[in-house]
Amino acid sequence: MPPRLLPAPADAATRAAVFPRVRWMGSKHKLLPHLAQAFADIAPADGPGTALDAFSGSGVVSYLLKHQGWAVHSNDYLGFPGVVASAGVVNHDTRLDADDVARILGPAADDRDFVRRTFTGVYFTPDDLEFLDSAWSHIDRMQGGGRAVAIAALCLAAARKQPRGVFTLTGDLSRYDDGRRDLRLSLREHFAERVADYNAAVFAGPRDCEVSSLEIGALEPRRYDLVYLDPPYAPPADDNDYTKRFHFLEGLSRYWVGDTIMWDTKSRKLPKRVTKFSSRRTIEEAFREVFKQFHDSPLVLSYSSNALPDLDTLVGLLREAKDDVEVRRVPHTYHYGTHRTAVRRQVDEYLFLAR
Ligand SMILES: C[S@@+](CC[C@H](N)C(=O)[O-])C[C@H]1O[C@@H](n2cnc3c(N)ncnc32)[C@H](O)[C@@H]1O
Repeated sequence: MPPRLLPAPADAATRAAVFPRVRWMGSKHKLLPHLAQAFADIAPADGPGTALDAFSGSGVVSYLLKHQGWAVHSNDYLGFPGVVASAGVVNHDTRLDADDVARILGPAADDRDFVRRTFTGVYFTPDDLEFLDSAWSHIDRMQGGGRAVAIAALCLAAARKQPRGVFTLTGDLSRYDDGRRDLRLSLREHFAERVADYNAAVFAGPRDCEVSSLEIGALEPRRYDLVYLDPPYAPPADDNDYTKRFHFLEGLSRYWVGDTIMWDTKSRKLPKRVTKFSSRRTIEEAFREVFKQFHDSPLVLSYSSNALPDLDTLVGLLREAKDDVEVRRVPHTYHYGTHRTAVRRQVDEYLFLAR
């Protein structure tokens, strides 16, 4: 077989940057060039093999790995990340055409109204909510890559229209209206544009890829040629709860099928999923268990100097499972807080390469 021609790390990072961007807490969009270099450095001598992106979130790192030629297994315990990875990583060739989009934008295929009944006065306009019900009446009849692209575009439409992209904010959000186009478009208009974004991201990678939606400890023990770990950062204050911020995208990614809504909450939240990564008290144990779980796979770990545990503790925990631990520091600016009180903070983003 002729050698596969794979892009240089900088080129792979540039290509991966076209992946439709969602404001996911901890997204590594800005760190793609550093990650591309780390993955190239840790790859086996005969080229990329199997890679697990164990906490895939926005999907952009799985998408980078696909561009670098890895056979990617993309995992996150939430369903929304699974949908975006199905659309852009597992899917090698299916795009939605103009007829598909016209059908989804057209009259509803059934009379479902769960979204309208549940979220009127909470999020979006009545027309937007009606569109979400109507779009799902068509999506429910779709399968495979096309279905994934449609759901991913619908979720991204909702994420872009919601101020700051988080669903902790409800009711009248006019105070957040800074004139941005994203806040003014209807969800129908957004959907058509977001489909175009996903269509542009679809490409045929050299290897089959897969997706799962499991708590990391539930992943089947298996050796990979690379395991990328980007767990939720445990901040010294505040929480790292993704469901609280993104429950609407999570529910929308499956039309809330099987979900138990917390009706006593204003935002119609979904229950939080607590694991050892959720608390400062248990985070060290969480890391110890994960490093043990993947002790025979080369690891790349992302973590922040602004989170717990600290650098020395993490290096110590990695050395319990690995002989060779290298630390790279990337200065990174985070934006914290609300629209009005947003502050920029300079932190180091650490990349640990452990073999
Ligand atoms: C820092 S984010 C990952 C960001 C991602 N690398 C990106 O670039 O968008 C952490 C992710 O871990 C997921 N997560 C949290 N706890 C988890 C667990 N115990 N098992 C699997 N996934 C988990 C969250 O849903 C979230 O998407």
